[in-house]
Amino acid sequence: MLLFLDSTDSAEIATLAETGLVDGVTTNPSLIAKSKRPMRDVLKEICAAVSGPISAEAVASDSPTLIAEGRVLREIAPNIVVKLPLTMEGLKACRALTADGVQTNVTLCFSAVQALMAAKAGATFISPFIGRLDDAGQDGMALIREIRAVYDNYGFTTKILAASIRHVGHVKDSALAGADCATTPPAIFRALYQNALTDAGLAAFNKDWASTGQSIL
Ligand code: G3P
Repeated sequence: MLLFLDSTDSAEIATLAETGLVDGVTTNPSLIAKSKRPMRDVLKEICAAVSGPISAEAVASDSPTLIAEGRVLREIAPNIVVKLPLTMEGLKACRALTADGVQTNVTLCFSAVQALMAAKAGATFISPFIGRLDDAGQDGMALIREIRAVYDNYGFTTKILAASIRHVGHVKDSALAGADCATTPPAIFRALYQNALTDAGLAAFNKDWASTGQSIL
């Protein structure tokens, strides 16, 4: 399973990339606004820190402008993936950009039929928003399972990118449901390493080791 960071904090992304376990990064207009920095500068820094796919979102509402924006974004770095909305215009842009060899991430997916349409449009990634479905009282993880079944039924190669992740359990359940990737805020990426029993076990081992008076080096 690929693990992406959902962030525009390029310094934190660079730090976490040192683990070797950051496979890509996703951004969106809200995260760019949160950074209070020019989109192009942020994306250049992220693309320099992480060699995998970096999603940059086009913001127009009509397909010709989405396509034009996608072409501009794509020029920022070779690993840019153009993020497009799951609308009719967004999927028209997806088809056109895919035909030009541009990688795409179709975002704001809330149903399996939307995911089917994105796959038919040639999307490289589909981003179902698990947390926002849960927030609305629905079952976000059920959507991941449904998309997995639909894509497997027809051999679609569009990668399922579990997004809008709220906690570590979402990552575990996405992996169990067969999502290809998950994008998490940095705090959740850090939490993926953590378990209270690991901490307690390590403290006990360290105490016992110290009592031996030995040294490995
Ligand atoms: O990748 C999409 C993600 O950023 C949306 O997350 O927390 O705004 O629902 P959220």
